[in-house]
Amino acid sequence: MSSQANIDSILKENRMFEPSAAFSSTAHIKSLEEYQRIFKEAEENPDAFWSQIASELHWFRKWDQVLEWELPWAKWFVGGQLNISYNCLDRHLSTWRRNKAALIWEGEPGEVRTYTYQQLHSEVCKFANVLKSLGVQKGDRVAIYMGMTPELPVAMLACARIGATHSIIFGGFSATALIDRINDAQAVAVITQDGAYRRGNEVKLKPAVDEALAACPSVKTVVVYKRTDAEMKMKWGRDHWWHELMENASDDCPAEPLDSEHPLYILYTSGSTGKPKGLLHTTGGYAVSTYLTAKWVFDLKDEDVYWCTADIGWVTGHSYIVYGPLQNGATALMYEGAPNHPAPDRFWQIIERHKVNIFYTAPTAIRAFMKWGEQYPRKYAMKSLRLLGSVGEPINPEAWMWYREMIGRGRCPIVDTWWQTETGAIMITPLPGAIATKPGSATKPFPGIIADVVTKQGDSVPAGSGGYLVIKRPWPSMARTIYGDPDRYVQQYWSEIPGVYFAGDGARKDADGYFWIMGRVDDVINVSGHRLSTMEVESALVAHPMVAEAAVVARPDDIKGQGIVAFVTLESGNASADELKDELKKWVVKEIGALARPDEIRFTDALPKTRSGKIMRRLLREIATSGEAKGDMTTLEDFSVLAALREDEE
Ligand code: PRX
Repeated sequence: MSSQANIDSILKENRMFEPSAAFSSTAHIKSLEEYQRIFKEAEENPDAFWSQIASELHWFRKWDQVLEWELPWAKWFVGGQLNISYNCLDRHLSTWRRNKAALIWEGEPGEVRTYTYQQLHSEVCKFANVLKSLGVQKGDRVAIYMGMTPELPVAMLACARIGATHSIIFGGFSATALIDRINDAQAVAVITQDGAYRRGNEVKLKPAVDEALAACPSVKTVVVYKRTDAEMKMKWGRDHWWHELMENASDDCPAEPLDSEHPLYILYTSGSTGKPKGLLHTTGGYAVSTYLTAKWVFDLKDEDVYWCTADIGWVTGHSYIVYGPLQNGATALMYEGAPNHPAPDRFWQIIERHKVNIFYTAPTAIRAFMKWGEQYPRKYAMKSLRLLGSVGEPINPEAWMWYREMIGRGRCPIVDTWWQTETGAIMITPLPGAIATKPGSATKPFPGIIADVVTKQGDSVPAGSGGYLVIKRPWPSMARTIYGDPDRYVQQYWSEIPGVYFAGDGARKDADGYFWIMGRVDDVINVSGHRLSTMEVESALVAHPMVAEAAVVARPDDIKGQGIVAFVTLESGNASADELKDELKKWVVKEIGALARPDEIRFTDALPKTRSGKIMRRLLREIATSGEAKGDMTTLEDFSVLAALREDEE
């Protein structure tokens, strides 16, 4: 569980902010009473609730049954047929939204491109035809390894249109990480780009694909979008340029009617064991949940410009840049680059330039803005903003208040949204016109979501006590399985606490029924809102020839939320310590990606273990955080190890 200090500070938090009458009067959900009534209806009759929402979307064939549930296997809208690309695009073409901006994109160097729904539809249809011409078929997996260019949502929607399952791999992952994910999914094609712009530099993407594909025999085809115009080696017969294929592609490509349970995408995330898990999301339920949550949580209106700063390589970008907003016919802004390029006011400049109304970002970014200083947001009036959101990790009350005052100017409600790759859509969140907020609390479950805080045995804990966060009933956008490993799905999520979905987070519910998420209770580290498992980083370290053993723990970090500290024992002790530390950090970056770079590496002769040989990470966590191990040490085998570790401190 996260540090005691964090829990204490949250416990002391008793400020509360009611939605303003002006906001509530135009909101989709206008009052606490309305939320409570809908929540109760959804709880008492979930089928009727979800069915009514699903009817707002387009179905080629209506479902016969809303839910088929055999714990833990769910099927939603059974027998129904739809296409999420149709719901994101075609559905709007027969309305006035045809010529409305669907995507406004700003590149890091400064160019702006806008796609109307009609234009985006044409691009998607063309690329869907390109995929078909390359032999990609319904049911095939397609890996996408791109930067934040409009071609990324085009590629996703084109896959969805023909029923190919996309697997997006965040552009910050390394070639080694690509190999695992491509092979696990047995992808037949990779869509990538030459490079992406980040902080004024080019991040090369295609070269990593080339390196990875030597070990990925399933991939037959690569499509490369030209973004940076860097010199590029193309492999004859395998690699194709996006622009060349698109030149002659027809923009006529009817969306394939797909079974509601047809696999829409796989997205890899970290669990408490080493190998990344490919969470599988299917079509119908995911479409319904993302559509509704985007509408109610962000209170989307037709005239809004909505900006989610996440990368589409993570679930937040899947659900709340692409599928949720577009199904609502919203205007979504997409930005390619870094928040501090060319200067730390870039985000505020973008908000001012495009008159952004709704802004959804992560606590780690907010803490970075705080550090960079008030002078940057203060330069801009940002009068267009009306709603702010936060996601990815617990937001500390101090950052919440800064966000409210400095960005929202005390005027905008904040929605702190708790959810996961596994849940597909927002689960616990304020509805901004209805639920009063408390800094640091994700407040209440979304209608249709039955959440609780329980003991290991599954009993609800009394108000004010901590426990395990669980979801007690199936919901439409729940992941259906771990791709290729159903046993692991059962064991990871449905076995620890009987009969319910266990999310891996600790939480507390206060006397008002508000949820306070306290962070992970397993070996998952949350660095800048990105999940990594301690085991993943450990396996990367141990793969280095000089490393005998490694234990990785998280310690609180002012900006990133958590930072990584690695305790390492070496095969032979005669290396130059500083050089090797640097080398090991680079090694982890090469094995996983820059997001996994350890902040600190400590060499030690031995790791603290129990008599049965288990590494006592808890003690290492204490040492990494406070320099002292104070907790229970009765099971520690060799006390001298701890003394040595303390002396070793940097
Ligand atoms: O620990 C929780 C934290 O992020 C985890 C999920 O990570 P991921 O699957 O990468 O998805 C992130 C974006 C949805 C959760 O188990 N988390 C996410 N949002 C919050 C949060 N912790 C506290 N408050 C949140 N709002």
